[in-house]
Amino acid sequence: MCGIVGYIGHREAFPIVIKGLQRLEYRGYDSAGIALFDGNQINLSKTKGKVEDLKNKAKEISQAGSIGIGHTRWATHGVPNDVNSHPHYSNSGNLVIIHNGIIENYESIKQELTKRGYTFQSDTDTEVLINLIEEVKKTEDVKLGKAVQIALNQVVGAYAIAVFDKEKPDEIVVAKLGSPLAIGIGEEEFFIASDASPFIEFTNNAVYLEDEEMAIIRLGKEIKLRKIKDDAVAYPRILELQMNLEEIEKGGYDHFMLKEIYEQPRAIKDTYRGRLLAEQGLIRMAGIDLNMEKFLNANKIIIVACGTSWHAGLVAEYIFEDLARIPVEVEYASEFRYRNPVITDKDVLIAISQSGETADTLAAIKLAKEKGAFVFGVCNVVGSSIARETDAGAYTHAGPEIGVASTKAFTTQITVLTLMALKLAKTKGVFSETKYREYLSELETIPSKVEKSLESNTLIEIIADVYKDSTNCLYLGRGYNFPVALEGALKLKEISYIHAEGYPAAEMKHGPIALIDEQMPVFVIATKKGHYEKVVSNIQEIKSRKGKIIAIVTEGDEQVKDLADHVIEVPETLESLTPLLTTIPLQLISYHIAVMRGCNVDQPRNLAKSVTVE
Ligand code: G6P
Repeated sequence: MCGIVGYIGHREAFPIVIKGLQRLEYRGYDSAGIALFDGNQINLSKTKGKVEDLKNKAKEISQAGSIGIGHTRWATHGVPNDVNSHPHYSNSGNLVIIHNGIIENYESIKQELTKRGYTFQSDTDTEVLINLIEEVKKTEDVKLGKAVQIALNQVVGAYAIAVFDKEKPDEIVVAKLGSPLAIGIGEEEFFIASDASPFIEFTNNAVYLEDEEMAIIRLGKEIKLRKIKDDAVAYPRILELQMNLEEIEKGGYDHFMLKEIYEQPRAIKDTYRGRLLAEQGLIRMAGIDLNMEKFLNANKIIIVACGTSWHAGLVAEYIFEDLARIPVEVEYASEFRYRNPVITDKDVLIAISQSGETADTLAAIKLAKEKGAFVFGVCNVVGSSIARETDAGAYTHAGPEIGVASTKAFTTQITVLTLMALKLAKTKGVFSETKYREYLSELETIPSKVEKSLESNTLIEIIADVYKDSTNCLYLGRGYNFPVALEGALKLKEISYIHAEGYPAAEMKHGPIALIDEQMPVFVIATKKGHYEKVVSNIQEIKSRKGKIIAIVTEGDEQVKDLADHVIEVPETLESLTPLLTTIPLQLISYHIAVMRGCNVDQPRNLAKSVTVE
C-alpha cells in the first residue's frame, strides 16, 4: 500500500507532488510527507494525517524547487506518527527516500548498521534501507545508482522506492520489486508515481518498471534502466496511456464512491463493448479464444482473489458451474498460497483483482504457475502487475476506481466472468443456440436495468435514515445472491463501521437466528428467480422473531411486500444475472448510512485500496 510521487523537471515540484499524493490517497492515508530540493538544501515536511494536513504543515518550510518526492502512508512498521512518516533521511542528511512496501530483514540490517554507528529516529524499515544505501555508497565509494543496486541485493521484501541524493542533484533513482512504480515521461521532465494518475495531465507516455528493475532518472538524459540483480542494462518500454483527467475527478458527486456507483451502467457497457455481439450471437474474447482448449480440458478452475474480488469469484463459481458445467473452487488468495494446494498443469487458475497489485493474489499466481497451471487474470488496471504476470486475461474496463470500497469493479468483474462462462458453455455445447442468444440479449439489457435500480436512491436514503444507528446487521441471500449478501455486509462494515455479516439464508437457522430481535435489521435478497419460496420462508422466520426486514425484490412482487418492513425493487432478469442488479441497492444503502454517520466514505479508517503487503 502507500502511494509515492516524485518530480524532476522545470516546474515547481510542490503542487505537482501534493496533488499527486491526493490522487494516490486511496492507497493509504495514515500520514503524508514531502521532500523538496531548492538547489541548495533538502526541505522536508511530514505529518500524521492526510495530505490536506501536510499542505498546512508544509507552510513551515520553503516550497521552492523543481525536484521533489512525496509519500502517503498506510502504516506497516511503526505507528502512524510524524516521525514514522516518509520521506526518511539518511544519517548524513544527504540522502532522502520514499518507500512503498516492506523490508522483511530490516531488523538484522539495523543491528549491523547500529554497530557501525548509525542511529535511527523512527521505527520504520525504510529508514534502515536509506542508511544501508548510505553505508554502501560510503564503503564501496560508488555513486547513488550503484549504491542502491548493491543495497537492494541485500534486502528481502517488497518495494517501490525513490531516492534523492543532495550530492547528485540532477537525478532521482527508483527501483521496484512487488510494489508498482510508473515513470511519466514529459518534455525535459519526469514524473514518478505508484500509478499514472498523478501525472496524467502532463503526459500520456509512461514506463512501468518490471519487478527487479531500477531506473536512474536524470534531467536532460534518457531514462537508464537496469536489472537490480546484476546491474545489466534493461530497455524501457514506453506505453501510451488511455486514462483521462475526468475519470479521476469527482465530476459533481460528493464522493468518488457515489460517482462510481452511478457509473455502473456505463462501466458494464464498456466491459462488454466489442466483446458481446448479441445480434451475431457472438462473444469475442481473445484471451479465451486463444486458450480455449486449456479451459475446455481443465480438471477444474480455481479462482483466487481477496475482498470484493473474492465475492465476484464466488458469483463466478455459480456461473461457471451452472452455465458451463466446469468444476470451480474459489479461494482466498492468502489461504491458497500457504496451504500446499493440489494443483496441476491440467488446472486453470483465474485471478480476479481490481488493482492488479494485491500481494496475496500475485503470490497465488506465482505458485500456480510453478505448478504448471494456466493462469488467467481478470483485472481492471491496465498494465498492472497481475495483468503482466498472468498467461492471458481480460480487462474489466471499469475505468479508475478511487473510492476504497469497491463498487463498479465488482459488477464489471461479474460481467467479464459471465461472458467467459457463456462463451465456454456455447463452445462446449452445453447451451442450445436459443438459450445462448437469450443470455446475450439479456446481458445487453443489464446497463439499463442497473440504471432503473439506481432510481430507488431516494427511497434507499429514507431507509438508511431508519437504520443508520444500528450496531449490527444481517445480510441473507441464496444461490447466486449469497455472495451478494456477503458483499452487501462487507460494504456496510468497511465504510460505516457497523458490524454486519452475510449468510446463505438457510444457514441463519444454524446460529445467526439467535441474534434476531426487534433491534436487528436483516437485509434479504428475495428476487423472483432463485429459490424465491425458500427465501420467503426465511423471511417469515425472521418476522416471527421481530427482526426488521429490508427486502430486495423483483419489480411487482406482492408477497414479500406484505411481510417486509421495507422493499426495494430491482427489474427482473435471468437468475444468473441478478447479482448485477441486487448489488446496487446494497451499495447505496451502505453509502447513505456511512454519510449519515459522518464517516469518510472514500477513505475509511485503517483500509487501503491497493493491498501490496501480505
Ligand atoms: C482491498 C480493497 C478492497 C478490494 C481488495 C482486493 O481490501 O479495500 O476493495 O476488494 O483489496 O483488491 P483487488 O485490487 O485485488 O481487487
